[in-house]
Amino acid sequence: MGFPNLLIENKGRVQYIIVNRESKLNALNQATLAELHAAFLSALPNEEVGGVILTGAGDKAFVAGADIAEFNGLDSTAALEMARRGHEVFNLIENAGKPVIAAVNGFALGGGLEMALACHIRIASENAKLGLPEVSLGLIPGYGGTQRLTRLAGKSKALEMIMTGDLITSAEAFQYGLVNQVVSPENLLTRAEELMNKILSRAPLAVGYAIGAVNAESKGINGFEAELENFSKCFITSDLKEGISAFLEKRRPLFKGK
Ligand code: COA
Repeated sequence: MGFPNLLIENKGRVQYIIVNRESKLNALNQATLAELHAAFLSALPNEEVGGVILTGAGDKAFVAGADIAEFNGLDSTAALEMARRGHEVFNLIENAGKPVIAAVNGFALGGGLEMALACHIRIASENAKLGLPEVSLGLIPGYGGTQRLTRLAGKSKALEMIMTGDLITSAEAFQYGLVNQVVSPENLLTRAEELMNKILSRAPLAVGYAIGAVNAESKGINGFEAELENFSKCFITSDLKEGISAFLEKRRPLFKGK
């Protein structure tokens, strides 16, 4: 499948998925959302892809939200369907068994911030602006933002951001725990890649099991039980044997994802 609204670039085992609607500040229309879905469904089982860096084309926006033009004339049933599709795509990203890092290179608003929040790690450039401005339009966040923002920033800050619709700087986002690191725009992709490559040097199955355990409660699964199950599953992997041997032999481990 071609992706008219995305750019896909592979750099070693890192796949870049770049939302490419620069003239609309990379706003997520339904076609782009469907392409993101297909791109992740293709990347996640692909053995040549170790992890995904998600970003926006250009230097102004990560994603400036859902495409507001498409809200025109939607009835409540169609709106529900649209929001469900967003949930499906962002749940897929959040529960990916491979690392997904958002490189937030500018405006991350509405659905754009919701997409970043679904990623496992967020690196933001110093000039990024983040927010959930939906109430300014007469809406609430509909792609998981009320839940993911609350989990990351806490209820007080989430309600303040959602009820005011105010945008925050990346420095504030760092302070509230929304982004992991803030770097200069020139260093954004380098830093995201460094972090990704460090994760890719670790045991891939263990990384996937860790994501699953950390995310368990948000899926309504007992997190402690999920941790026990995934911890024990590591003992079936040959990578654990390799990790232990490498440690005892004082050498670097060579993990195979098995
Ligand atoms: N949906 C659809 N189009 C959008 C968009 C969105 N979420 N965000 C930006 N665009 C479009 C603009 O309509 C404009 O298109 P045009 O050139 O065809 O008129 C283009 O992207 C550039 O945006 P513009 O508003 O001219 O840039 P700016 O620098 O003046 O302002 C923002 C930047 C981000 C402050 C402003 O675009 C904005 O407020 N966007 C909407 C953000 C939002 O509410 N998102 C949540 C949606 S639920």
